[in-house]
Amino acid sequence: MATVSDIEILADPVGFTAGILGHDIWRIPAQILESVAKNRRTAVKSCHASGKTFSSAEAVIWWITRYSDGIAVTTAPTWVQVQKLLWGEIRKSLPTSRIMYPKPLGTELKLAEGNYALGLSTNEGVRFQGFHAGHILFVLDEAPGVDVAIWEAIEGASAGGDVHILAIGNPVIASGPFHEAFHENRERWATFTISAFDTPNLAGISLTYADKDGHRVTLGSGRDLLSLSEEELDQAVRPYLTTRRWVRDKFYEWGPGHPLWDSRVLGTFPSQAEDALIPLAWLEKCQQCDPTVGVSLSRDSKKLRAGLDVAGPGEDETVLVVRDGPGIIFSQAWMRADPRGEVVAALKQYEGRLEVINVDSAGIGWNMYTHLDDIFPGIAHPINVGESSHDPEKYANLKAELYWGLRMRAQAGDLTGYLDEKLVGQLAGIRYKHNARGQIVIESKEDARQRGVKSPDRAEAVMLAFAQHELPYGLTAYLEEKIEQIDAERLQRMRQMADKLATGLNRPKIETVSEGGKEPTKGCPECGALCIQPVCTGGKRCGACGNQFDESRSDFKPMNRTTLFK
Ligand SMILES: Nc1ncnc2c1ncn2[C@@H]1O[C@H](COP(=O)(O)OP(=O)(O)O)[C@@H](O)[C@H]1O
Ligand SMILES: [Mg+2]
Repeated sequence: MATVSDIEILADPVGFTAGILGHDIWRIPAQILESVAKNRRTAVKSCHASGKTFSSAEAVIWWITRYSDGIAVTTAPTWVQVQKLLWGEIRKSLPTSRIMYPKPLGTELKLAEGNYALGLSTNEGVRFQGFHAGHILFVLDEAPGVDVAIWEAIEGASAGGDVHILAIGNPVIASGPFHEAFHENRERWATFTISAFDTPNLAGISLTYADKDGHRVTLGSGRDLLSLSEEELDQAVRPYLTTRRWVRDKFYEWGPGHPLWDSRVLGTFPSQAEDALIPLAWLEKCQQCDPTVGVSLSRDSKKLRAGLDVAGPGEDETVLVVRDGPGIIFSQAWMRADPRGEVVAALKQYEGRLEVINVDSAGIGWNMYTHLDDIFPGIAHPINVGESSHDPEKYANLKAELYWGLRMRAQAGDLTGYLDEKLVGQLAGIRYKHNARGQIVIESKEDARQRGVKSPDRAEAVMLAFAQHELPYGLTAYLEEKIEQIDAERLQRMRQMADKLATGLNRPKIETVSEGGKEPTKGCPECGALCIQPVCTGGKRCGACGNQFDESRSDFKPMNRTTLFK
């Protein structure tokens, strides 16, 4: 039988985690739990390893214990995050609790009929709508990556009953419902921001630097992080949370102004530079893609492609990347001056399966290329990214062309696999601009160095691994064609729908008209799609249906974009 003090402790989530779960809770997570109890909507943007998932698990266990009709539904961008991370913390907390809980079955902890916690994947959107009775708590871990459809379903479910939401995560994407909770929808949410300098291991530590406009910025207060001894860097009252050493290392690796510094260290939305080649948000999405999509899982497939960036003067690492389709399957970096032996050994494990090894052959890289050419004849291929591009109107050099291709891949989610934090950090730090001739130029390593950015060797190796030099009209044209193809398919579907509609309404089919005397855009004579590419053999090819044709043919049928959408 519950006593008055039991009921009191159940009403107080902080007392519950300390007194019942036996957790050692610190100031900010305590405020978050109090907010979950009090407010319908709580949003927390927070730095790396600040106990976000841990606090979410505490909130879930408290909620279903507090309310006998309590239901807690958790989700995250990927199933692994739901099952392993949040539910991992739930499973870890139960055995030491002073209340006996049943063992969770998968991602379900059932206390009684209508009183349970459930972990759902975001593929199960429709299931989020099925909760109407009792006290309901929705928990979104790594909330910026959770699908908009899930947010909408949860909002729908919140219309009636006592529904609370905890959305918590690293603020990596500066748009979408999580971002809105801190901006246009702010009055509806109780919000928290946790910087690494607010966490226990950095209490009494500060960091001062000049921002890009030369203004002095100080984070935290107390002793200067950069003056700490090695021993002091390792001091941690809570070793499981963000450490001083980690923040110091990230200051040197990313530094202020880098989107990952903003989100992972300061817990703020990335102030993405407008000239960032690949926005962090795209890379985050790529990290969440299924790494096996488009990847051949057969060990016999002979379509692996490698990229090797060779450390030049002032650069740290020689980096090898191997990819299978869109997925990076291997990546290794060497700090040694001449790691030829190690590179060959790493490549040997893929011998017979490699289609090409693109070697950065500028300067010192030439030796590496000739060495690899001896060992892997016909497969090693030299690439000097300083040379001119296939499309000099558009790109200042090959480097710009290849990086632009990588950007398009990242945008389309066609870059998956082994995308570690260091690589993502380097890719997100690359900048581009247009020169006086209007060509795209990638920021030089020297300019980047002046901003305090180290040589992005891993990003270069990835760019080389994705270089498609054997295509007749360059990588970008190839990728553009792919993207246009998707557009064209959509256009074609819309056109068919419009035709059907017209037939149904007994109206004439869509006619092709020329507007205001302008020459209409010419479409494919076969399917009418607009994605027409010139082919190297002469004539044109349709990106949608593959039809090759000659515009001089009598059956050529011009189309106008506006007529398609009428
Ligand atoms: N109050 C705490 N007591 C014990 N361990 C904790 C506590 N807070 C966090 N942890 C542990 O610290 C690690 C990082 O926490 P986590 O919740 O995964 O951080 P985040 O989600 O912010 O990256 C996890 O292993 C977690 O179990
Ligand atoms: Mg987490």
